[in-house]
Amino acid sequence: MEFWHNRWYEQQIGWHKTVFNELLVKHWPAIDVPKSCQVMVPLCGKSLDMLWLAKQGHTIVGLEMVEQAVEAFFFENKLDYSSRGSNSHIRHTSGPFTIIQGNLFDLEDGILQADAWYDRAAMIAIEIPERPAYVAQIRSQTKHGATGLLITFAYPQEQMQGPPFALEDEHVIQLYSDGFEVECLERLNLDDDKERGLSNVTSSVFKITRN
Ligand SMILES: C[S@@+](CC[C@H](N)C(=O)[O-])C[C@H]1O[C@@H](n2cnc3c(N)ncnc32)[C@H](O)[C@@H]1O
Repeated sequence: MEFWHNRWYEQQIGWHKTVFNELLVKHWPAIDVPKSCQVMVPLCGKSLDMLWLAKQGHTIVGLEMVEQAVEAFFFENKLDYSSRGSNSHIRHTSGPFTIIQGNLFDLEDGILQADAWYDRAAMIAIEIPERPAYVAQIRSQTKHGATGLLITFAYPQEQMQGPPFALEDEHVIQLYSDGFEVECLERLNLDDDKERGLSNVTSSVFKITRN
């Protein structure tokens, strides 16, 4: 946990992008959620993708434990916000955006009933042994029939210490095998990341439906 606080404190946030994610823009229509639906964004950071999702007419609930990230999201996007809640989970709200500041794994069961979720640099950011607990939280915080868009990143794990941790397609299928349907929408080879000394870098886009 200290790891992420340090990353934000030292502004080592190379994952943060200043443009909307093109795979989100391309594939979100396949997620097929009505405008007014609530979209959960686990491990949201200060992602601009939340702005794009709000532009589609959705309300957004981001989950993020580092206060600095939450403040940066509202400040950099010139959004006034109000805060309420306990020390463990504080809700910061502005218009269509709510960011719950706290540890995702400590979030009370079923406190959200999201219609959809968006996972970019979230599941690949958590330690591999925590993945089943992460999937359990997705189940707990979404409605039956909810759909999610998951963007993965995979490479031979021995070539780099995560995060990001490699998430292979077969692991997605395995982790979401109980109570979800999984459909791969696209698979890409990422040649650019070979500069980091990684070989066989791929990214996949999945549509996941909670039964
Ligand atoms: C790799 S970043 C990705 C952020 C965002 N999804 C994006 O695409 O820009 C992961 C984020 O998750 C946050 N985080 C890590 N573990 C968390 C946890 N257990 N609960 C809530 N937030 C967490 C970190 O502080 C960090 O901002």
